[in-house]
Amino acid sequence: MDTALAEDRRFPPDEVFAATANADASIYERDFEEFWTSEARSRISWFRDFETLYEWQPPYAKWYLGGSLNVCYNCVDRHVEAGNGDKVAYFWEGEPLGDRRALTFAGLQREVVRFAAGLRQLGVRKGTPVGIYMGMVPELAIAMLACARLGAPFTVVFGGFSAEALAGRLTDMECEVLITQDQGWRKGRTVPLKANADDAVSRAPKVTTVVVLERTGQGAALTEGRDHTWASVVAGQPDDPAACPCEPMDSEDLLFLLYSSGTTGKPKGIVHTTAGYLTGVATTHHYIFDISPATVYWCAADIGWITGHSYIVFGPLANGTTSVLYEGVPDFPERDRWWDIIERYRVTVLYTAPTAIRTHMKWGPQYAEQHDLSSLRLLGSVGEPINPEAWIWYRKHIGGDHTPVVDTWWQTETGMIMITPLPGVTTLKPGSATRPFPGVQAAVYNESGEPVGPGAGGYLVLKRPWPAMLRGLYKDDERYRATYWSRYDGVYFTGDGARVDSDGDLWLLGRVDDVMNVSGHRLSTIEVESALVDHHDVAEAAVVGRADAQTGQAIVSYVTLKAGVDASPAKLTELREHVAMRIGRIAMPANIVFTPELPKTRSGKIMRRLLRDVADNRELGDTTTLADPAVVEEIKTRAVTEA
Ligand code: PRX
Repeated sequence: MDTALAEDRRFPPDEVFAATANADASIYERDFEEFWTSEARSRISWFRDFETLYEWQPPYAKWYLGGSLNVCYNCVDRHVEAGNGDKVAYFWEGEPLGDRRALTFAGLQREVVRFAAGLRQLGVRKGTPVGIYMGMVPELAIAMLACARLGAPFTVVFGGFSAEALAGRLTDMECEVLITQDQGWRKGRTVPLKANADDAVSRAPKVTTVVVLERTGQGAALTEGRDHTWASVVAGQPDDPAACPCEPMDSEDLLFLLYSSGTTGKPKGIVHTTAGYLTGVATTHHYIFDISPATVYWCAADIGWITGHSYIVFGPLANGTTSVLYEGVPDFPERDRWWDIIERYRVTVLYTAPTAIRTHMKWGPQYAEQHDLSSLRLLGSVGEPINPEAWIWYRKHIGGDHTPVVDTWWQTETGMIMITPLPGVTTLKPGSATRPFPGVQAAVYNESGEPVGPGAGGYLVLKRPWPAMLRGLYKDDERYRATYWSRYDGVYFTGDGARVDSDGDLWLLGRVDDVMNVSGHRLSTIEVESALVDHHDVAEAAVVGRADAQTGQAIVSYVTLKAGVDASPAKLTELREHVAMRIGRIAMPANIVFTPELPKTRSGKIMRRLLRDVADNRELGDTTTLADPAVVEEIKTRAVTEA
């Protein structure tokens, strides 16, 4: 971040780009209510128009009251009705080379209708909670859209999560149906999705129906009476949209839950509803990615995260955009895989995370140079602060030294991008997400709730409701209030630190709580600690994030083993695997430091700040409240030898 503080490079909008851009400077002058009213009316098709723009009873908002609509209708059917059925919705690239498919809006409609009709036959109705645990196949988007068509709320669980993580989410939402696949592909190896799903369902008794897409043809066996193949579910079903119409939904009906890590061990079920969410993602997608009918857009995230929900599925489809959907990783089979895809489909917009950019940067520009990337006209970044050097590299080597780079700040909770430049309008600064999106009001507060001046750091807050904001935490009002609304009165606390510069532009500084951001994925320190302590040989564990040049943060854990257990390299591997089993491989600690004791305050609280400093090799702060100062010295020595 220190480099960002000194950053003074400026990239004013390109005139040629600005001439045709969807936004101009006047967008910032628009009245808040006028903006969200007219965007909703022009971008969304309503079965019944809304009567009231929004209602705000802190900390709960409702938007577009009285309106009736269907998300699937907006994302699929209306584009076919408007004569755009032949337009490609998704160019799908499977991981195995040559495994490709182009799915038009009409083709997507047929598949969604057949699958929705099949689900209906299995008993799925408006309100039936459905879990989805799949890889990056078109059927994942089809499953989400089919649920939305029927009015069945769903939760997508990232395919990299463990059986236990899946079981927790299925149980919390009380899912009755699970849609999964036999196996996924990752780096030439298979991921045992169905085997994990079987394990999870054995612990989530409400799930009585499982639908299994056959992707590799080698998954776990089907359980008679409970499991159905995707093929058997769609067999004989009509593809005529009238045979399985879009359920009219109230603006505030639940669309999906997405579980995200918080500062305690239990993930939070973040609630997103229908009209405000769809309006928010369609509007931001349109202006920020400068979408036109000719756009070929690629968001290289996973649909299992909010970025994929909002900017691979709902935003782009609502806008009738052609997207790329990719199953694999950047370096399989070769490190030029992404650039090959961009060249082949003439991708015009690429949206990815700083961790991916830094990985490409480490490999060097030669892989991108082997390909014609001249179709690109805009680049986006999301998920963590982007360091200026990565921003510059991205623009230079991927963006041909001319494309705008939009650094977009938002969260699972916000549903839509909140702080971002607008291409063609905003002067870009490497490392700064610049300013709030039109209709969004943000500020940086000090501890006592006053706005900080230029240059000073503070907490990023959001000062008034926005359409796609979370409607709470599922069945947990208390936690909702405590997490976001208790620090300042009537103002949403983001959990992020930020700084404002003298132009009023915002620079994000990372989390201020016990949430880590590893490769743009949010993980709680306590969740990883619980997974470690759950191992029979572990007496105590403390987990912190340390700075990592590539992944942003890496997980460091300090572990005290039970008496008589050897701190061997084999034990280290065993503990890492244990965390993978409990949460998923993304949560595996990069380092484990075995220590006979953890530093604690006299009242017995683990001093995480101090451990963070040790992990980052920083000067240690005040340790006078420490119960046993010798512990720190011991840990420092071990951290150096074992890291
Ligand atoms: O700390 C911020 C960081 O990611 C957090 C939200 O994580 P999640 O809900 O998983 O959503 C990630 C994708 C939207 C935020 O609290 N974050 C996200 N985007 C940025 C960012 N930090 C700095 N700059 C960003 N552009």
